Amino acid sequence: MIEQCQLLLKKYFGFCEFRKGQEKAVRSVLSKKDTFIIMPTGGGKSLCYQIPALLQEGITLVISPLISLMKDQVDSLNNVGIPATFINSTLSPGEIDERLYRAYIGEYRLIYVSPERLESQGFCSRLLGMHVSIIAVDEAHCVSQWGHDFRPSYRFISDFINKLERRPVVMALTATATERVKKDVINLLGLRNPEIVLTGFDRSNLKFSVVNGVDKKGYISKFVDEHKGEAGIIYTATRREAESLYNYFSGKEIKVGLYHAGMSDEERNKAQDAFIYDDIDLIIATNAFGMGIDKSNVRFVIHYNMPKNMEAYYQEAGRAGRDGEESECILLFSPGDVQTQKYFIDASNLSEDLKAIEYQKLQKMVDYCHTSSCLRKFILEYFGEESLEEKCNNCSICCDNRQIQDITIEAQKIISCVYRAKERYGKNMIIDILKGSKGKKIIENKLHELSTYGIMSTEKRETINLITNKLCADGYLKMTEEQYPVLKLTPKSIDVLKNQVKVYMKIDKIEERNLTDNELLELLKNLRKNISNREGLPPYIVFHDSTLKEIAKKMPTRKEDLLTIKGCGEKKVGLYGHEVCQVVINYMEAKGIREKNDSPKENKEEIMEFYKFSEEKVKSHIITFNLYNSGMSLKEISAERGLSLSTIENHIFQCYEEGFKVNLDDLIPKNYENEILEAIEKVEHNGKLRAIKEVLPSEIGYTAIKAVLYKYRNVG
Ligand SMILES: Nc1ncnc2c1ncn2[C@@H]1O[C@H](COP(=O)(O)OP(=O)(O)OP(=O)(O)O)[C@@H](O)[C@H]1O
Ligand SMILES: [Mg+2]
Ligand SMILES: [Zn+2]
Repeated sequence: MIEQCQLLLKKYFGFCEFRKGQEKAVRSVLSKKDTFIIMPTGGGKSLCYQIPALLQEGITLVISPLISLMKDQVDSLNNVGIPATFINSTLSPGEIDERLYRAYIGEYRLIYVSPERLESQGFCSRLLGMHVSIIAVDEAHCVSQWGHDFRPSYRFISDFINKLERRPVVMALTATATERVKKDVINLLGLRNPEIVLTGFDRSNLKFSVVNGVDKKGYISKFVDEHKGEAGIIYTATRREAESLYNYFSGKEIKVGLYHAGMSDEERNKAQDAFIYDDIDLIIATNAFGMGIDKSNVRFVIHYNMPKNMEAYYQEAGRAGRDGEESECILLFSPGDVQTQKYFIDASNLSEDLKAIEYQKLQKMVDYCHTSSCLRKFILEYFGEESLEEKCNNCSICCDNRQIQDITIEAQKIISCVYRAKERYGKNMIIDILKGSKGKKIIENKLHELSTYGIMSTEKRETINLITNKLCADGYLKMTEEQYPVLKLTPKSIDVLKNQVKVYMKIDKIEERNLTDNELLELLKNLRKNISNREGLPPYIVFHDSTLKEIAKKMPTRKEDLLTIKGCGEKKVGLYGHEVCQVVINYMEAKGIREKNDSPKENKEEIMEFYKFSEEKVKSHIITFNLYNSGMSLKEISAERGLSLSTIENHIFQCYEEGFKVNLDDLIPKNYENEILEAIEKVEHNGKLRAIKEVLPSEIGYTAIKAVLYKYRNVG
């Protein structure tokens, strides 16, 4: 049975294997057991009912609270060739009637309905006459008042189930795992002795970072600049901040949208659609945004302010990387964020008891922003997971190998300036004084007579700003909460001035990423956008980012080759395979890349001949690449082309950089790999190969060292 499921997984969804928990869930449902599935956001819950739905006689009824998602899910299913439909309040009575009739005659494998439908007698009685074999209750926590989005109509579900002549298998699916909610789901939905499938909450493809004391706008500008063409969400705590950030970006090159609850429905839908359809890359939003967004290719989620608690944070950050591709979740912390959240709690109409709970949760969130141990461990422990590794190697704490700098002297200068200026000025004015500015206000207020005037004139404004923020974040200074905040001293300031403590700082920098030549990827994205427009489907439903990346790397030119790529099922390949292959073929022709034909190998004469007569000037490293693919050694290529061996090697590394398939292991003597790696880690080489070579046996050449460097560049 499970083999059959795997075939369906490949045929329809183009996936080669089940994810953690999915197989167990599918087995359980197929053995007719009620099943309760708890997996994190983006964990892949939908497949747990979609696959069984294909194997059961009768209909799978999916109860889903989000109308906007229903259409999305149904579109996705239809697009891979699975007949499904939805019934909710967006349809006219006539349309509902038609769909119910089609359901009755067995046209659909799955029907999505909103819970409110089940309150209607008429609707239920139509369903009672059909053969429903599975009921999947999605977002099952909605049945519990202890969850975060209670929906009264979920309480009707168990009555409805009891009315059915043949009791179907009942599935409940959620990402909320607290004990209270679990109990409610089992009791209130009336699950019978359910199999519980609980996977860990870790999302290993997400990199978590907390960034403290930076100029937030500048940080985001730079980040966005380095991630052009990638989709991202920026969450702010307030509408005002969302608007201000939106205005800031509107003047720039980047295509950006705005979303908050103060906008009209129409404006919001427009912004949301533009984001889903990849018409804009960046959306700046309050927490009103995101419910009902299934967009799988969100590459980063940046929190411009700290959110109110870890639950909210993990849910919002978790909207990144649903397709399993590497993505980033960055939280920009500043002390003022705590004030904002406290204000929200105070102003809410919660009872005093509940307010106390909210304060506790907020404190945990603040702790997260200040912890010096692994962020992922912190999150998972918060959600009740035990026995975790000390380091995840994919968070800003674990990956932090910046040098710590002693900034005590700079701190003393800034603090004493605040002191001399009688704690009366804001940050900019303090920086002006330290820089020795000749501005009108400085002169008017006689600030140029202070002893701290101009004592940091050689530092960049940016640096002073960064250090001042850091001092505030760590409590060495504080900023008042007024409209024009003023810098004030704290008890810790005095310790610094008296030389009783030293102040250290790690300079934050945006990580350089290994940008490969993405020309083909861009072409494929254009094609995806065209298909998306033509079919009225969001681009990520047409192809996942990960699928396009794999295509760009493997360059399949025939439909059969496409089928080996993750996310390419039969239906999709049938629909779009031809166009995709054509884009690849055109690209290869334009670049002079020859198809990799493992057998029989082309001989070098043919290849050299080809280039002699090819019209276009082909880049030298590509010629090398094609010879390499024909099975020639680097030495042979060097002799053949009359180029030095090191030039040829550089060609190969360049190809690797650009994403061509180069097996670096070919260049590394196996029995030395570990030794080289150790030497790289041990020696302070600053990229100089010589320093590494010196500590290694003489038979190890530069190529091998270089290849190891490339191979492990993104590790550790
Ligand atoms: N076995 C698999 N292999 C590869 N990708 C998968 C697999 N299963 C699911 N996915 C992909 O993972 C993404 C998330 O799946 P899904 O929408 O089912 O998540 P979910 O658990 O329902 O999340 P949420 O709690 O946000 O509703 C989808 O883009 C889906 O295509
Ligand atoms: Mg889901
Ligand atoms: Zn970590």
